[in-house]
Amino acid sequence: MVEVKRKTMVLGLGFAALVYLVLFFYVFGFAPMITSSSQSKWVEIELSKEPKFSDTEICKECHYQLYIGMKNHSTVNCEACHGSGVEHTIKRSSDTIVVDKTRDACLKCHLDVEGRDVIETVNETHHAGVYCVVCHDPHR
Ligand code: HEC
Ligand code: HEC
Ligand code: HEC
Ligand code: HEC
Repeated sequence: MVEVKRKTMVLGLGFAALVYLVLFFYVFGFAPMITSSSQSKWVEIELSKEPKFSDTEICKECHYQLYIGMKNHSTVNCEACHGSGVEHTIKRSSDTIVVDKTRDACLKCHLDVEGRDVIETVNETHHAGVYCVVCHDPHR
């Protein structure tokens, strides 16, 4: 009886030591740690990336009249509908910016999918076949 208890204890301790060692090496040995050199490398990579979007703050520099007229969509970034404007803000031409008049462009936010109750929604039958912008000014 005593012999069995001792065996269990030795095994238990052995197992605990093993777990400890494995964890020790994982944390201090092989784990992918953030060192100052890996961090500066990461910063370097992030800085080398081209910015993908500008900002509504930039758009309003040139399209101010349109911007101040917005109520419904005043909280929606211009680029949520017009796509990235990075190139456009430099070239200022109409071929560098997306203008999407399709119903899908509006329904991606306004379609009444399950659980979407923060914004007003409609379904596909809402004046089907007619572009939304015929009746709704997207900048109002
Ligand atoms: C430096 C000034 C400037 C900035 C900043 C600017 N735009 Fe423009 N934008 C213009 C000019 C000029 C035109 C007219 C181009 C033309 O008709 O050839 C234009 C036209 C447009 C058009 C109409 C394109 C068409 O097909 O008729 C859209 C949409 C547009 N801009 C969106 C944006 C968005 C979104 C931003 C911010 C990401 C932005 N603009 C920032 C100058 C600017
Ligand atoms: C909800 C989507 C949406 C948002 C947000 C939006 N636009 Fe538009 N924009 C459109 C659509 C759609 C058209 C095309 C309208 C048409 O031809 O009837 C358009 C057209 C334009 C035009 C062409 C001229 C005109 O008045 O039709 C300009 C310039 C423009 N947008 C700039 C902007 C700027 C700047 C912002 C942000 C302040 C912005 N848009 C925000 C959807 C949007
Ligand atoms: C990026 C998401 C997004 C897109 C794309 C979008 N909207 Fe909206 N829309 C909103 C938000 C957010 C509001 C403000 C919350 C609200 O009133 O539902 C709004 C409000 C509205 C309202 C006012 C609803 C009400 O009675 O309060 C109308 C109408 C509308 N949008 C039409 C359009 C049309 C037309 C288009 C396409 C040109 C469009 N939206 C594209 C996000 C979007
Ligand atoms: C023929 C004109 C017309 C077209 C096209 C149209 N709408 Fe409407 N929409 C209206 C009118 C009128 C109302 C207000 C009365 C109502 O609730 O039906 C309205 C209401 C709305 C509302 C507010 C809903 C609410 O419960 O208050 C949203 C959001 C909306 N429309 C989005 C859209 C979107 C997105 C499209 C395109 C897929 C679109 N509309 C196409 C005329 C139109």
